[in-house]
Amino acid sequence: MKSFTTLPIDAQSTAALAQHGLTLGLVDTTDRTAFTAWLRADHRGFHIAAAGDEVISASLEKLANCRTTGVWDSTAHDAVTPVATVSSWTTRMTVPGPREVEAWAISSVTVAPTHRRKGIARALLEAELRAASALGLPLATLTVSESTIYGRFGFAPATFAAELTIDTRRATWTGPSVPGRVHFISTEQLRELLPELHKRIRATQVGEIDAWDLRWDGLTGLTTDDKDAARSLRAIRYDDVDGTVRGLALYRVSDGAADFAAHTLTVSYLATETDEAYAALWRFLLEVDLVSTLKAADRPVDEPVMWQVADMRAVRRAPYDHVWTRILDVPAALASRGYAAALDTVINVVDDLGFTPGTFALTISNGSATAVPTDAAPALVMRINELSALYLGGVSASALVAAGRIDEREPGAAAALDAAFRTSRAPWLSFWF
Ligand SMILES: CC(C)(COP(=O)(O)OP(=O)(O)OC[C@H]1O[C@@H](n2cnc3c(N)ncnc32)[C@H](O)[C@@H]1OP(=O)(O)O)[C@@H](O)C(=O)NCCC(=O)NCCS
Repeated sequence: MKSFTTLPIDAQSTAALAQHGLTLGLVDTTDRTAFTAWLRADHRGFHIAAAGDEVISASLEKLANCRTTGVWDSTAHDAVTPVATVSSWTTRMTVPGPREVEAWAISSVTVAPTHRRKGIARALLEAELRAASALGLPLATLTVSESTIYGRFGFAPATFAAELTIDTRRATWTGPSVPGRVHFISTEQLRELLPELHKRIRATQVGEIDAWDLRWDGLTGLTTDDKDAARSLRAIRYDDVDGTVRGLALYRVSDGAADFAAHTLTVSYLATETDEAYAALWRFLLEVDLVSTLKAADRPVDEPVMWQVADMRAVRRAPYDHVWTRILDVPAALASRGYAAALDTVINVVDDLGFTPGTFALTISNGSATAVPTDAAPALVMRINELSALYLGGVSASALVAAGRIDEREPGAAAALDAAFRTSRAPWLSFWF
């Protein structure tokens, strides 16, 4: 496979932006000045406070291996800082089976407010998709700031997450009492343990992707400009009866000024690889004294904890779209994942950007799929968006038929697809990227 770091910049988008006097290019991430300017533009784009030297230095070191793209305006007052940014890399994504697929992860999409709505983001996104396609990757993926932006490029949400707000006084634990122990550890120790635990979870959790050092450094407050916030973090570890680490949690307790008996506990991260670890850590978090409210964002939409407390209504859930995917090669993407049931159908896929349109005979047997071009009449007609939404097994084709997003031309075709595509647990990614 060609290297994504050296793949030349996209000629089509370069030409489109040149018409506006703008230059598209790759940042030399060994050039400290250039890369720092790019990082500052990225932070400004997301309204993040300008990073201090420590965060910049860590970012320069730990993000250097991404494909780092910028757009420059030589007529701007500050012509060194790019007016648009995007970052991308290949990642392993766990797909149903569980199997894994090499996907194109896209992040840091920003356009300066001085240059908005001139088609810069479109040029960047199309260039990213063409780069991924040139690299032979079957899938692109991103998490989004707004759900209105990426549909036009063929993306659709494939995993969802939920923000939980739990009234801990009503949420008496009724789940299992499990053996093993919960220990307090330092955030540094948690930082050391997290990559290995996440690696094991990533291998089986559909929707999860590889994490990277800076993600864990930021999460645990080891690389941050906000040292006060970092100091309020508490870390715990769950060991099973054999003493093996099976779960980790990071949280902070705040907001006790008005009523000291009614603090809020906010879970920053919770990673568990067994049901026992899950029960032990959730029970611990729900039973911390002087706390009345627990908040946890980016949790799975089928979080079992609501079934482990006395009053289910104590657990309020606000779901949202999380990981968006965009299939770039229908036969390769469908062949990459596993399936729960056999299927013999024909799907027609509309792809306005022309990456992978067509009618495909889709045959699934023994948990594996082949999709080959055919002239047969389709049982299901959909855009690449809808197929991308279905890809990880977390979205129902039948629901998309009901929503008018899939045209079901053969009765029962969507239900048959669902039987093959759906996963027993909701696909989920535990962080943003
Ligand atoms: C979102 C953002 C990248 C768009 O950049 P931009 O260069 O102004 O976008 P473009 O001019 O290329 O617009 C491309 C298309 O997206 C649409 N669009 C752009 N931003 C949009 C938004 N926030 N909501 C809905 N549609 C949007 C445009 O109308 C245009 O539609 P069309 O080509 O189908 O007519 C930019 O506003 C930004 O940096 N926002 C803050 C950071 C952010 O949210 N980034 C996204 C991270 S996931």
